[in-house]
Amino acid sequence: MQTDSSFTFVLFGGTGDLSMRKILPALFEAHRAGGMLADSGKIVAVARHAANRDEYLQWVNEHVKPHVSKKGVDEAAWASFLTRIEFVKIDLGNPEDFTHLRDAIQDLPGIRVFYLATGPSLFVPICHALASVGLNENARIVLEKPLGYDLKSSNAINDAVGKIFAEEQIYRIDHYLGKEPVQNLLALRFGNALFEPLWRREWVESIQITIAEELGVEARGDFYDNTGALRDMVQNHLLQLLSIVAMEPPHSMDSDSVRDEKLRVLRALKPIDPNEIGKVAVRGQYHAGGIRGTPVPAYATEPGVKPDSTTETFVALKVEIENWRWAGVPFFLRTGKRLADRVAEIVVNFRAVPHSALGASALRAGANRLVIRLQPNETIRLYCLAKQPGEGMNLASVHLDLAFDQFFREGQMEAYQRLLLDVINGRLALFVRRDEQEAAWRWVEPILNDWKASNKPPKPYASGTWGPAAASAMLAQHGTCWLEEEN
Ligand code: BG6
Repeated sequence: MQTDSSFTFVLFGGTGDLSMRKILPALFEAHRAGGMLADSGKIVAVARHAANRDEYLQWVNEHVKPHVSKKGVDEAAWASFLTRIEFVKIDLGNPEDFTHLRDAIQDLPGIRVFYLATGPSLFVPICHALASVGLNENARIVLEKPLGYDLKSSNAINDAVGKIFAEEQIYRIDHYLGKEPVQNLLALRFGNALFEPLWRREWVESIQITIAEELGVEARGDFYDNTGALRDMVQNHLLQLLSIVAMEPPHSMDSDSVRDEKLRVLRALKPIDPNEIGKVAVRGQYHAGGIRGTPVPAYATEPGVKPDSTTETFVALKVEIENWRWAGVPFFLRTGKRLADRVAEIVVNFRAVPHSALGASALRAGANRLVIRLQPNETIRLYCLAKQPGEGMNLASVHLDLAFDQFFREGQMEAYQRLLLDVINGRLALFVRRDEQEAAWRWVEPILNDWKASNKPPKPYASGTWGPAAASAMLAQHGTCWLEEEN
């Protein structure tokens, strides 16, 4: 895709973890691919921990380069990428410093993108400071998650930012929406007539959505201990995936058609009854254990975590959607750190045949199943029953596979690369609108409140397992189990 839309990409938190691991590597990939970024486009890093441009570039060489491209660094592309980078030293606590930023960028051509890769407490002060030097015109602002801590604090941020930037200028990022397989889910659902008639309560028994990680909290103990898995993963990534799985076909792929449909799903989520939380929500915290044979410490002993912390590192939920398409179909959501495997997948369990002329084996649950694996190894796998070779009519589960990396050998794009290009080119469809975000916070709030008020600690689970047994028990009550428990 050739572009000539010039831009100035201002990166707040320029020496932070996210800039190092995701944002600068993604901009480099877009630069290296050629034609995706206008030649005149500039990246202006804002930070306090470097004295000047040379020192910043040294940091980029040392810290960002190791995170770019699995295929190795193309040195010529890397050198030309560095020429795009400028640096402005700003102490965010000192709004006067923003005049330096204005002086540095006011004559640069094209749209201005302000990416706030900082803690949410800085969002509002940065927006005010930008407005005070007139930089909120001809601009887009990107807000990283988590946006707020609950509905009230998220509304406070949105209200304050909304006074400075119009909603069409605000890009609330949820990087799961930029993942190639999530895009593919839209293609699968709305590009093929095959699944649509089956994609409803009459044919679907249950749906599972799992985002499991092997990693622990790494160096983010302090942040994570004040956040927990419900805010870090469920309120955003999991509910966004759920809304894409369950939404009605949009009228078009324009930003508001897609977001309107997702919003309808979020608003149709059955409200959580505060008296029933124990039945529909499981929270856990990892204890010491082993990941693939390597011992790992308990969450409570991780740096930055309070030793008596009751923060959850695992959540499993049963969710229902109150509309004609999905009434009565349980959606089981699950996420956790230090689990047995790193996997993100959506499992659609179709109902068994109503009557089997082929014997009991045709009534087996789980044979009619679609598994959409988002990571690793992006695949879509359709399980069905087939006759086993030989005498008699014995059925066995077989699968049809679509492995994307084998089919499309190249051209895969990392989520951040796609999303950053979308911001620069003004495409909002893959960003979360304020009303979606509010609906998601509103829905999780009773659980947040209950867990805050309750003095029951989260259920322990050993690192390297699939979480507390209560998560399995919750599915067992519905006559089903998590996918890995079947094997
Ligand atoms: C982030 C969370 O949004 O997503 C992290 O803050 C989590 O805690 C990460 O590790 C997972 O993303 P991915 O793309 O690695 O699955």
